Amino acid sequence: MVKSIDRRYFLRLTAAGAVSLAAAVENTVRIGMVGVGGRGTGLLRNLLDLPGVEIPAICDINEDNLRRAQDIVEKAGRPQPAGYSGGPEDFRRLVERKDLDAVVTATPWEWHTPVCLAAMKADKYAATEVPAAITVEECWDLVNTSEKTGKPCMMLENVCYFRNVLMVLNLIQQGMLGEIIHSEAGYQHDVRGGKIRATDGEIRWRGMHAVKRNANLYPTHPIGPVAWWSNINRGDRFTYLVSMSSKSRGINNYVRKKFGPDHPNAKRTYALGDVNTTLIRTENGVTVTLYHDTQLPRPYDLILRVQGTEGIYSGTLDKIYIEDRSPKPHTWEDIEPYYEKFEHPIWKDLGPTARNYGHGGGDYITLHQFVKAVRNRTQTPIDVYDTAVWSVITPLSETSVATKSAPVDVPDFTRGKWKTVRPIEISA
Ligand SMILES: NC(=O)c1ccc[n+]([C@@H]2O[C@H](COP(=O)([O-])OP(=O)(O)OC[C@H]3O[C@@H](n4cnc5c(N)ncnc54)[C@H](O)[C@@H]3O)[C@@H](O)[C@H]2O)c1
Repeated sequence: MVKSIDRRYFLRLTAAGAVSLAAAVENTVRIGMVGVGGRGTGLLRNLLDLPGVEIPAICDINEDNLRRAQDIVEKAGRPQPAGYSGGPEDFRRLVERKDLDAVVTATPWEWHTPVCLAAMKADKYAATEVPAAITVEECWDLVNTSEKTGKPCMMLENVCYFRNVLMVLNLIQQGMLGEIIHSEAGYQHDVRGGKIRATDGEIRWRGMHAVKRNANLYPTHPIGPVAWWSNINRGDRFTYLVSMSSKSRGINNYVRKKFGPDHPNAKRTYALGDVNTTLIRTENGVTVTLYHDTQLPRPYDLILRVQGTEGIYSGTLDKIYIEDRSPKPHTWEDIEPYYEKFEHPIWKDLGPTARNYGHGGGDYITLHQFVKAVRNRTQTPIDVYDTAVWSVITPLSETSVATKSAPVDVPDFTRGKWKTVRPIEISA
């Protein structure tokens, strides 16, 4: 039963892609947006600059944010999008519109899965900000709904499209690092300001997750690139993880320093340990060390280190070492010359435009790839299985942390299809 659903799902997408590819290349892609706060507004501006994209409708529970987004669209010379601001479930009316091909959501985390499920059930492509889901059940809901409806669901994991990440992917695919053995990566970003409101020390939605959950709360920026580098769901899969958290001091200390020791949030208990470390093992024996480090004073560093039998790349140093190629043994080599030979083709094509947009151009390429899939009616390059397995690290690490770092199995969302080696679709 399950197998036949899977088969139909893939056949339907392939057939649809083949029929419409030539005819639909120039078709307008009509996108409804849900959640236009900081990130959603950035995505909106970027989408408006992509050729052939229209925004007929926008939903946000905050009327000011909604109006600001509508104004942005109008100032770009487009018709004012219809607005939906009738409460937290009003996105359900938006997804039913007949003039939409896709729905993009950038709400707080807990709304990502409900919006994507509603979009797919209403026959729309779904795209979501990261992470796509916060429970194991939600991850399965995304997979099952995508399979049942035949509608793709792409997490907009922009780090996958960073210039260095794709150049290293190209290096790996050409065998330059040999067989991949280990990666180390982490979301190491001081986001205390995103958790605590600057004006009065109140806890924002992101901070509420830190109050309640002790886990790797934001795994997808580092795990997305690592998964691509090690063919996860395309020949290998994550099998299990163990996770451990440090004590929690960061937010208490931050509120104390900014608002005084008597502020209630200076004394409050936060579940989230300041540094969470998760170890993941794959079926083929690759290991991954993953950090989540968001509430201590520190400079930004995603680490993004990958190591194979022939060499190693370090994103922190932005250097490389390849045996018998790098000039000096045991010595890092500057990465810059590698861009001349191994720049990813999509960066050659889109780089000059992409660089004008967020995250060094990663945002532009991510949205470009989503829109291209919608336009051609093909599978999205980050598919629902990637979306689910990158997001599921949060609830699984939470379980491990709560059980003295016991090993926790990673569900096989592909139901065995991970064994098939298939390419990652990336092209302009
Ligand atoms: N990929 C990246 O680089 C990146 C960067 C920043 C944020 N993000 C992600 O983007 C998402 C949004 O983050 P943000 O910083 O923009 O948050 P934000 O609080 O600035 O914006 C969230 C918006 O969603 C609206 N909203 C909340 N519930 C809603 C609902 N039920 N229906 C409709 N609208 C609703 C809010 O009113 C607000 O306008 C998060 O998932 C975050 O992790 C990703």
